[in-house]
Amino acid sequence: MKKYIIGNWKMNLDYAEAKSLLQEVAKAQDSFDKTAEIVVCPPLVYISVFHELLKNNEWIKLGAQNVYCENNGAFTGEVSPTQLKSMGVSYVIIGHSERRQYFGEDNKMLLAKVKAVLKQGMTPIFCCGEHLQVRKSNVFKEFVMKQIEDVLFELSADEMQKVIIAYEPIWAIGTGQTATAAQAQEIHALIRLRLEKQFGAKVSTQVPIIYGGSMKPDNAGELLGQKDIDGGLIGGASLDAESFAAISKVSE
Ligand code: G3P
Repeated sequence: MKKYIIGNWKMNLDYAEAKSLLQEVAKAQDSFDKTAEIVVCPPLVYISVFHELLKNNEWIKLGAQNVYCENNGAFTGEVSPTQLKSMGVSYVIIGHSERRQYFGEDNKMLLAKVKAVLKQGMTPIFCCGEHLQVRKSNVFKEFVMKQIEDVLFELSADEMQKVIIAYEPIWAIGTGQTATAAQAQEIHALIRLRLEKQFGAKVSTQVPIIYGGSMKPDNAGELLGQKDIDGGLIGGASLDAESFAAISKVSE
């Protein structure tokens, strides 16, 4: 399967900075792995202008960091799946640990969002991952599997095969302390096995399972070289066009 190299810019950069980063990424096309799917997820407020800027660009795909689960109505401050779709968005991050932690998003809400995004033909990037405390407690595998089962196992096999799963151990996010390739591969393989049991072999081999958490050019090669790691969800390093390109390149 092709690799997914997805930049999550989080709530960083003012408009001038964001526009110039996008232009740098676009200019660096030759430094990227041509076979990988390259996605940038800027802050939502820049989505419409990025849609314009990317009009003649076929290789950078646009992603959103969040969405609401209804298509219209009295939901002050929210953005709908149909609105994102109309702005050329192809991917939507759902259930990032920062949304779960700071905005109290629960499984019911996450399932509604995943379904609403699928309905518009966009790809949900469903995030899971454990806190350091859970990792140390030795039940981290069950914890991560439950995050997946509670939401994604409510989907049909047809829906499931259109989802990307991102494993992001919270203790590795923005800390510089990445999971080792072996630690990440262990969970990715387990997720794939659970998908196989629930949805069958065809679905389990089709669903990309990507890794997020301090992925950088110097550790990306080993991580992306693992059998069940199909790409990266990259925070800090995606704010630098050269590093973002380098991460994609090591996966070639
Ligand atoms: O969604 C990406 C993420 O949470 C990882 O962030 O800065 O550790 O690469 P970072």
